[in-house]
Amino acid sequence: MRSIMSPAKIDARTQPAAKVCLQGEECGSAAPVAAVAAADAKKTPKEMYNACAACHATGAAGAPKVGDAAAWAPRIAQGNDTLYSHAINGLNMMPPRGTCAACSDDDIKAIVDYMVDNSK
Ligand code: HEC
Repeated sequence: MRSIMSPAKIDARTQPAAKVCLQGEECGSAAPVAAVAAADAKKTPKEMYNACAACHATGAAGAPKVGDAAAWAPRIAQGNDTLYSHAINGLNMMPPRGTCAACSDDDIKAIVDYMVDNSK
């Protein structure tokens, strides 16, 4: 009993699951989103997409919203390789890797596939 109720353990259990930090904002620690997105290799693309949702669920910074087929059609028409490359390298207000510095190229591609599949 003593161990699971210790202040340190309770503290560890009550940390926020994720922190979102937009480009241009002051962020408390280096890359909280990245740490969450890549900490567990078994995360699904849908879970990793949380790192991108700050912009892509809201349209923040002019990001094409996931689910907005009209916004995505011309982007999808560029072909997957272009989408992957822009997601990895950045494009205008789209930051490289969507700020998920710890996401591998394959993680990013899987997230892009998830976003595209849900935006047709
Ligand atoms: C800070 C906001 C922001 C975050 C976070 C973000 N994006 Fe974006 N994203 C944008 C914006 C803005 C654009 C549109 C760029 C343009 O066309 O000028 C964009 C465009 C894209 C595109 C389309 C590129 C193209 O060629 O048309 C893809 C794919 C994409 N983002 C993937 C991702 C993925 C994957 C993540 C998470 C790992 C992510 N984004 C996180 C802002 C963001």
